[in-house]
Amino acid sequence: MANKKTGVTKASEELLEQLNQAIARELQVAVQYMWQHVQWSGVKGFAVQSELKSIGIAEMKHAEAIAERLFYLGGIPTTKPTPIFVGNSLKAMIAQDVKDEEDAITLYKTIAEMARKEGDETTNRLFREILQQEEGHHDTFTTLLEDL
Ligand SMILES: [Fe+2]
Ligand SMILES: [Fe+2]
Repeated sequence: MANKKTGVTKASEELLEQLNQAIARELQVAVQYMWQHVQWSGVKGFAVQSELKSIGIAEMKHAEAIAERLFYLGGIPTTKPTPIFVGNSLKAMIAQDVKDEEDAITLYKTIAEMARKEGDETTNRLFREILQQEEGHHDTFTTLLEDL
C-alpha cells in the first residue's frame, strides 16, 4: 500500500502517535505469547499452549493491519515493541497477559473514539474490530487464570 501523505484522509499527529503505540504493544504481545508458547510447562501448560500460539499469531496480524493504516495516513510504523514479559510460571505468564489485554482494550477504545472525532471512520472501524478480538483474548486469559 502506498504512503499517501497528501491523501484525502488526514490524521492528527496525536492519532498517528497512538497508532504507533498500538503497534509497539501488538509487537510486544506477539513475541510475549510466542515465547510463552515455547516456555510453557506442566499439565496445565499443555492446556494453555495452543491458545498462546493462536493468540500470538492474531496479535501479529493486528500489528500488520495497524501498520498498514498508519503508513497510509503518512506515518512510519515503529519496529520497537514495548517491554516484553515472559514470566517463569504459568500463573505469572497468564496474569500478565490478562493485564496486557486490559491495557489494549483501554487504549483501543481511546483510539477508536479519537479517530471518530477526526472523521476517520476507517481507523475507527479497524479499532472496533480489533477491540472485539482483544475482548475475546481477555475472556480467554481470565478464564484460564481462574484455574491456575
Ligand atoms: Fe492485538
Ligand atoms: Fe490481544
